[in-house]
Amino acid sequence: HRHRFEPATEAGRVPLLLLHGTGGDETDLLPLGALLAPGAALLSPRGEVLENGMPRFFRRLAEGVFDEADVRLRADRLAAFVGSAREAYGLAAPMAVGFSNGANIAAALLLRHPGVLAGAVLIRAMVPLAEPGAAGFAGTPVLLLSGASDPIVPAENAERLTALLQAAGAAVEHRVLPAGHGLGQMDIALARDFLAREG
Ligand code: MLT
Repeated sequence: HRHRFEPATEAGRVPLLLLHGTGGDETDLLPLGALLAPGAALLSPRGEVLENGMPRFFRRLAEGVFDEADVRLRADRLAAFVGSAREAYGLAAPMAVGFSNGANIAAALLLRHPGVLAGAVLIRAMVPLAEPGAAGFAGTPVLLLSGASDPIVPAENAERLTALLQAAGAAVEHRVLPAGHGLGQMDIALARDFLAREG
């Protein structure tokens, strides 16, 4: 993966794996990462799929309708990327911070590759795989931030994702914010508190 890496400036902070939304790139979320976990190492890959010129982390057939074979393939490749980046940069297992499409691939990564992530902040995530298979990641902390008026992620879908992650053993905190699909100040405040607590 093409990516950006910012080394830690403070010892002992868990690194962040930053996963952008559709149309973003590897530099997009670096300022957000610095805001959410000051001093932490930041690892930020670019999604390998292009949709009308816009980078994404996996293919979709339509908005909210995913090519699940591609989700599996890309989640596996991202897991391998995290492994080689950890080795190259000497990193502990990272906490993912994903927005929209980036949150969806982070959810797929959690479900398919327990142990790759120390935890995750999933902003406006939805169910990435109808049949994720049995994962076991006991106690992995996950903060799911949904928007009550999100036109892309139905409330029922976010509930289903929460249940899937919990069934796989994650410790999920699901907050529904008075927001749409966009990322706002409440997301930042809640993610920052969560990472200060769990990271
Ligand atoms: C997706 O395709 O992952 C979701 O629809 C979110 C998005 O990227 O808009």
